[in-house]
Amino acid sequence: MVNVAILGFGTVGSGVAEVLSTNGGLIDQRVPNPVRLKYILDVRDFPDSPFAPLFVKDFSVIEQDPEVDVVVETIGGATIALDFTRRALAAGKNVVSSNKELVATHGCELLQLAQREGVSYLFEASVGGGIPILRPLTACLAANEITQVCGILNGTTNYILTRMIKAGLTFDQALKEAQDNGYAERDPSADVDGHDACRKICILAALSYGRHVRPDQVPTQGIRGVSLADVAYADSCGYKIKLLGRAIRQPEDKICAFVAPHLVSDENPLSGVEDVFNAISVTGNAVGDVMFYGRGAGKLPTASAVVADVIDIAKDVHKARPAQWGPGADDLVVSDDILTSRWYVRADCSVEQARAACGELQPLARGGAPKEETAFLTGPMTGPQVRKATEGLQVQSLFRVLD
Ligand code: HSE
Repeated sequence: MVNVAILGFGTVGSGVAEVLSTNGGLIDQRVPNPVRLKYILDVRDFPDSPFAPLFVKDFSVIEQDPEVDVVVETIGGATIALDFTRRALAAGKNVVSSNKELVATHGCELLQLAQREGVSYLFEASVGGGIPILRPLTACLAANEITQVCGILNGTTNYILTRMIKAGLTFDQALKEAQDNGYAERDPSADVDGHDACRKICILAALSYGRHVRPDQVPTQGIRGVSLADVAYADSCGYKIKLLGRAIRQPEDKICAFVAPHLVSDENPLSGVEDVFNAISVTGNAVGDVMFYGRGAGKLPTASAVVADVIDIAKDVHKARPAQWGPGADDLVVSDDILTSRWYVRADCSVEQARAACGELQPLARGGAPKEETAFLTGPMTGPQVRKATEGLQVQSLFRVLD
């Protein structure tokens, strides 16, 4: 018997219980010993739940039960979840997590603790929800030097941008719709300000390049500054506005990682990723480009990834897995200022003033634009170059172009 305890009976935790129950017969055919849900930890009461007899409120019950092999942490955040994860690993229990904040901030420490204790710390569900991405990245692509990872990593912001693009909703209208549909939190800042995508690109960068990348090292810009005018100008030249997390290998083992809205060419498959879907493009020096696509959030898709990790452990509960990344450094992550690309600029100026500032450019048009407004695509420039060139233009929007 492989005994499982779930910490936190929220959206993901309840989904894990449901998948373990609904697919229990099938799961047991895939492992040497049956998987059994033994405990669910939550401070709340769920008297009507079919899992009611399994609930406990005291973590030490789980910590001290030698029969518990796998602890599933779906609490979220990096306070109680960190304490319980450390204690579970120190008690010799394998831990599976969907908690991107905890993995991004403390992943290196927790992986090293797991290794010392001879147990596993797995977190497939922390990036891309139900999309298989971390195991393919570290196993199926293990023969490659990863040169670049680029993805739509947040379902809520992709939904908002999709509704702005396809239904002409303003940012505020689309955000309200996302909240009404249960995608965005009442406090939507972690999604719309890019912090969620930042945590996910940190995890992808760490697994791709083997070093811990801290969220506070990654320049992060969300989508609050994207307007319907920007959406229309992008559309006029064959682009969609998407929030991308990017991590690019640099010389001397440095990493350039950042999160920002981009104009993505209609010819790039990322431009066709809509609604709450996520997609991650990985470039390896042997395989070339591969792309992973699917539901990046939601109860059952995320539970699918969590339970896959549980099954992986249940195949051999005593198999120690090596830590997949080492410590970071203050000078490990370099700013995207070094990257050259074309830029989209919308400013309160004339085309002549824009040309005088930026040289050769591609002017853009949209219906109903105010007289004083000019939008254009620049030639290839770095961030500092485009900011210096446009400093006198009353810039309203400035986004990188991903061709
Ligand atoms: N809030 C996240 C999103 C949930 O919208 O993608 C999944 O991490």
